[in-house]
Amino acid sequence: MRYHLTPIHCRPWLLNSLSLKLIESHYENNYGGALRRLNAITEKLESLDFAATPGYVINGLKREELIALNSTLLHELYFASLGGDGKPTDAMAGALARDFGSVDRWRAEFVAMGNALAGGSGWVLLVYVPRDRRLVNQYASEHSQAVAGGIPILALDMYEHAYHIDFGANAKAYVDTFMRNVDWKAVQARYEDASKVEPPRPLVQPEFGDLPGVGAEEVKAMLDAGETVQVIDARPRHFVSRTQDIMEGAVWRDPDRVQEWAGELSKSDPVIVFCVYGFHVGCKTAIALREAGFDAKFMKGGHSAWRAMGGPMKQHV
Ligand SMILES: [Fe+2]
Repeated sequence: MRYHLTPIHCRPWLLNSLSLKLIESHYENNYGGALRRLNAITEKLESLDFAATPGYVINGLKREELIALNSTLLHELYFASLGGDGKPTDAMAGALARDFGSVDRWRAEFVAMGNALAGGSGWVLLVYVPRDRRLVNQYASEHSQAVAGGIPILALDMYEHAYHIDFGANAKAYVDTFMRNVDWKAVQARYEDASKVEPPRPLVQPEFGDLPGVGAEEVKAMLDAGETVQVIDARPRHFVSRTQDIMEGAVWRDPDRVQEWAGELSKSDPVIVFCVYGFHVGCKTAIALREAGFDAKFMKGGHSAWRAMGGPMKQHV
């Protein structure tokens, strides 16, 4: 395959205090260079007999491919980030305020991150993360650092080649100039596209589709708030006999004997039941309790989720 050049998106002659010489050199030498390198590496990879190629050669080429590909993508975004008046649109101001507290707070962090890379190199990126449906400012000390699954919508290039022709070592003046040239209408368009990307699909257990579940964090909040909730650890007997710990606030009951212990529970207070990972055993126990008239829910992710969250444990006796 061959990667194709993307034309420069900003109109360089309209930029405020960024010279044509700087932008041309950046686009032609650094962006163009990354794209040319990417195509050369791709061609080399396509010609390889992978089974006969040593691992260090594959590692080297794939590393260089990642660097060249991300450099290409981020430079395209950088040039598409410029050409505006630096004033966030109402929609972007709203999104920044939602995720950072205020536009000023966002800007303070973004600018400080740029200044912090002065004398070094890297990228400062505004990235939409579909998993959390929110924006984050991301630091990248080199081209290949990127938030997995994140969609960058604004890029500040902090490699020296991005500013030394106009600003010498004065990276701070460059960062301020960049901020005055951000094309927020274009950022908003990219934000609108990015926010259409769905978060990763949640775990679906169609056989337990109607069964209400509750997250481990929510259970902890209920316990911390002192709510009356009956928490049942229903891990199979062989699991519990192997491990010494149990979630604090839970009592262990054998999932094979629900009918025997269900009578100990109160029907007026909610019951939360869980197994090891939150699959069949916990769900089936919750169903049995619901059928017996209890307000029972299962804890998503089970014992493992509680531990992964750092929930408090106690010795099982
Ligand atoms: Fe660059």
